[in-house]
Amino acid sequence: MKYKILLLDPNPVSLDISSRELGQRGLNIVGATTFDEACSHLREDGAIHVVLTEWELPFNTEAGSGRLEGSEMIRAFLKLRYEVNIFLLTDEKYAPNVTTGGLLNGYFYKGDRDWDDVVRKVRNEVTNSKNRAPFFEKLVEYANKAKDSWHTPGHASGFSIKSSPWVKDYYDFFGPNLFRSDVSVSVPMLDSLLHPTGIIKEAEELAARAFSARYTFFSTNGTSTSNKILLQTLLKPGDAILLDRNCHKSVHHGVVLAGAEPIYLMPSVNNVYGIFGPVPKKRIFEAMDGALAARKPVKALILTNCTYDGLTYDIAHIVQEAHQRGIKVIVDEAWYGYARFHPEFYPCAMEAGADYATQSTHKTMSAFSQASMIHVNDPDFEKIQDFFWENFNMHTSTSPQYPMIASLDAARKQMAMEGYGLLARTLELARSLREAINSLEKFRVLDLDDLISDELRNGIDKVRLDPTKLTIDVTKSGLSSREVERLLLGKHNIQIEKSTFNTLTVLITIGATYSKLNRLYLALANIESLCGNLADQPANGVLKDFRLSLSPIRFKPRYAFYCDGEPVPLRAGAGRVSTGMVTPYPPGIPLLVPGQVITEEIVAALQMYRDHHVEIHGLNEGLVKVMTVEEEASLVRRGFEIKDNRTG
Ligand SMILES: Cc1ncc(COP(=O)(O)O)c(C=O)c1O
Repeated sequence: MKYKILLLDPNPVSLDISSRELGQRGLNIVGATTFDEACSHLREDGAIHVVLTEWELPFNTEAGSGRLEGSEMIRAFLKLRYEVNIFLLTDEKYAPNVTTGGLLNGYFYKGDRDWDDVVRKVRNEVTNSKNRAPFFEKLVEYANKAKDSWHTPGHASGFSIKSSPWVKDYYDFFGPNLFRSDVSVSVPMLDSLLHPTGIIKEAEELAARAFSARYTFFSTNGTSTSNKILLQTLLKPGDAILLDRNCHKSVHHGVVLAGAEPIYLMPSVNNVYGIFGPVPKKRIFEAMDGALAARKPVKALILTNCTYDGLTYDIAHIVQEAHQRGIKVIVDEAWYGYARFHPEFYPCAMEAGADYATQSTHKTMSAFSQASMIHVNDPDFEKIQDFFWENFNMHTSTSPQYPMIASLDAARKQMAMEGYGLLARTLELARSLREAINSLEKFRVLDLDDLISDELRNGIDKVRLDPTKLTIDVTKSGLSSREVERLLLGKHNIQIEKSTFNTLTVLITIGATYSKLNRLYLALANIESLCGNLADQPANGVLKDFRLSLSPIRFKPRYAFYCDGEPVPLRAGAGRVSTGMVTPYPPGIPLLVPGQVITEEIVAALQMYRDHHVEIHGLNEGLVKVMTVEEEASLVRRGFEIKDNRTG
């Protein structure tokens, strides 16, 4: 593939000469003479990898016209497309005497007329900075060496199965390459995930550069594990952490493992759709101040950005406020890993100054399931680096899957090379699907304003909506979301991401196509035609008003978690303390965490979920596990009771 270069020169004659010379040497050139034209090329042409520019360009905008000088211009380009490599190609004999803060990738003086040098250096920079996947390439090289394998895994590059009369189909389905590349830590040239010093380290450094982090670590058991590694690194027994009550269960597990005291932040709830949204900023700031005033050793704040439904925080402001109070910020970006690659989603956590981010590269990019990344920008990380590795080792298998590591490397390369273009297309597809569904009578894609709660609407929160996550209101169809979901799957072979009582959520990823979009649209149109006048009736199972306040947490989760407890019927649980987590799925938010008091209201909510056949994790055959009276008394005696810690 030829690299595409945006060549910028205010002088059309000079632009013509440079274009010809570089084009003849194999670069694919797009030219422009003004800053405005340059920006529109960068916005519209995702294939551009490099900008070669004169030091100054004229601009002409509504705000005025003039000439834009180098460093300002480069910053503006990087705001549009941070991943492009930028070089000066200039008549200025000396590199302009300004600092561009390391933003430039190189300098060429036109008077040298050494076009070969320009092409060589540009190619070299793009290749080295992003157009390679060193771990993936090394794995392929190793697999192709056809070495005799005397090590794990036992299938020995597939030899144990490829002639089997019984499981050859297993070999045939996954194919020879998967087995040849499924190797073990006994292969030194492939480095070690648990102590990377070679090719994995190189791949992680490229990922850090792509995702704007100081360090990136590959993690092979999902963001579930990435979260636990970080919480155990940053928190010691007795430390406190502020966490969104709506966070993923892995964060709650991390709290148990670390022995920390959780300070729960109640998320906003949209009562009409039963959708949990961001925690209002005011509540976060008040909780930080309250905890510090109460002299709690608050070490970190963790938030989910964006939420499952695509709602995003004003993350930069929150990070700033947390840092002013000496609190580290972890952002769970399980659903938002691509945010660095298109300005529609900026800022990602790293760009907003967060200390840590965890991302499920597999959820929204092209990596295999479970492939996740931990990004680090914490200025104090070096002080805790050894402890981080201890925890990384605690949670990571000594036999990580090498194809999965390779998939992280390749997914990063893809985003660095074509992420902007892919996301621009994804946004276009999302807009188009939104319009198509909204043209139907009985289904409607919800806007930001529909999704957020009143307190966010009227607050200082600046919440936004990721347009690639579409939440569809099914109320007017007269069917429950479960029924629509069943029809979509059973009749139309379409699997959606999740549902609430009256909504369905679909994710438009970089793998979406117009054909897929149209199939969903046609399926909904078909369901609409079938449901006829049902729409006049209240939908079966639609929840009209979703309200729930969560009860206080009475004991530190770690100590409640380790109680033997006793199982009691759900109804009899009211007034007792839960030892485990009870989570209706979806939406996946634990209504009970270890140490939390069970109230009548929570019992009623769980019964309602059960009546709607929602899967409930932690409720086994209708029994909930609670602490015994003796266990409660023992924890009180030992001082593990938490005071002043309400969950909502
Ligand atoms: C907010 C959030 N964080 C973390 C996770 C866990 O991610 P993974 O599936 O990569 O382990 C999920 C999974 O759904 C999630 O929704």
